Amino acid sequence: MKTKKLLVLCLILIVAFSVSIFSKPLKIGFSQIGAESAWRTAETESMKATAEELGVDLKFSDAQGKQENQIKAIRSFIAQKVDGIILAPVVETGWEPVLREAKRAKIPVVLVDRGIKVSDPSLYVTLIASDFVFEGEEAGKWLVKKMNKKGNIVELQGTPGAAPAIDRKKGFASIIKKYPNMKIIKSQTGNFNRADGKQVMEAFLKAEGKKINAVYAHNDDMALGAIQAIEEAGMKPGKDIIVVSIDGVKGAFEAMVDGKLNCTVECNPLLGPLAFQAIKDALAGKKLKKWIKQNDEVFPMEVAEDVMPSRKY
Ligand code: AHR
Repeated sequence: MKTKKLLVLCLILIVAFSVSIFSKPLKIGFSQIGAESAWRTAETESMKATAEELGVDLKFSDAQGKQENQIKAIRSFIAQKVDGIILAPVVETGWEPVLREAKRAKIPVVLVDRGIKVSDPSLYVTLIASDFVFEGEEAGKWLVKKMNKKGNIVELQGTPGAAPAIDRKKGFASIIKKYPNMKIIKSQTGNFNRADGKQVMEAFLKAEGKKINAVYAHNDDMALGAIQAIEEAGMKPGKDIIVVSIDGVKGAFEAMVDGKLNCTVECNPLLGPLAFQAIKDALAGKKLKKWIKQNDEVFPMEVAEDVMPSRKY
């Protein structure tokens, strides 16, 4: 009788132990670039909300725009023995050593929103992101029509070395160069934030004044800063100077409804559900596409009022 009781007790303990092991929440590290734009904040919220919904133990790290902070965060995730890492890389290069450390620790890494350049593609599972070259091309095509194939453009670039800054510049330039009467007369970084966008636009206006017919900003935040600078210079953004940008955040739609921004090309930041699914798939041994591409739309100001209520970020 005593042995039987002992056996039952052992069985209960084994079941309890297994349940506790298998129902342990997934521990996932997310290394975010920072909070430079409304787009970035929407991406962070998407990650946090999805983690909560799925019961994931999320280790969140904000790198304040610095790659060295992201590398430190990844090393700390590895030390904490996370099940997976989600990385939004601030720049394209310099990731190989730390990603090799993650690979050695058998921790899958999923890239979100920006791509990287590595010689060994097995260092990450997949990239979940928009096509930034396409976005730049779409902004260019829209502007060609709007400007009737002629005029002077100033460009506000994203952060130097970042995939969206490189690719959006490339895509846009590839369209504009086909039209000899369209010229990019100034191009400088505004670091993807509103304050720098405003400051650089002020300098452009000082140098080129009334010669400027249009602004192409690599994101909405810089465009909103430029709009402020144009107004402060006594001109009407959206009329005296055409403004086109990328992201499709709420603030851009409001500016379009007010007639100050002419067009935004969408870039989807709501990547949480896809990112966590990719980690789960990788842990289950599934092979994923190297690039899970997001499809984006062009929104000119004429449709802004109708579309705004359905926007999610
Ligand atoms: O990588 C995506 C870009 O980064 C967004 O366009 C921009 O707003 C952000 O800061």
